[in-house]
Amino acid sequence: MIRKKILLIGDFGVGKTSLIRRYVDNTFDDRYLTTIGVKISRKHVVVDGIQCELLIWDIEGTASTDQIPESYFRGASGVIFVCDISRKQTIQGLRSHIEYFTANHTAKYVVACNKVDLLTSAPAVPSDLAPPEQMILTSAKENTNVDYLFSLIARKVLL
Ligand code: GTP
Repeated sequence: MIRKKILLIGDFGVGKTSLIRRYVDNTFDDRYLTTIGVKISRKHVVVDGIQCELLIWDIEGTASTDQIPESYFRGASGVIFVCDISRKQTIQGLRSHIEYFTANHTAKYVVACNKVDLLTSAPAVPSDLAPPEQMILTSAKENTNVDYLFSLIARKVLL
């Protein structure tokens, strides 16, 4: 079977672990337990009849992508960059993660603007970081667009 390695990258506490947990186990936990190092989850997907196993790497929160060991990127087909749309500084963090990444790597990527459930007004989604169809508003808590997010990156790396 085809295997594809997908990384989740973003500042501390933006919801990387929660998105993976929602996608893989369909669960959510309000408690915050920071990830140390990396945790790898697996999920079987079918895209246009192609069977694939996603190896989803949950990398501990980092203020900048250059702190991530180069070995984590080895063999990666795709990246999901994650920010917390209710915290401005994580959107700024997203910008530097993406700039560093695209300067050094060619893997496909999409962006999750997570915790959309916390917003009380329309989200201010930056328009210059990625094409709009690659910027997905998600909530791991309320299960908004989580399957869609992962199926989008799966399609990008498979097709
Ligand atoms: P690090 O591993 O430390 O980088 O954190 P992380 O990015 O993996 O974040 P994590 O999934 O641990 O979530 C951090 C906190 O945000 C936890 O308390 C979660 O319950 C909460 N959280 C995650 N996703 C959402 C969401 O969509 N909505 C809300 N309201 N809270 C969320």
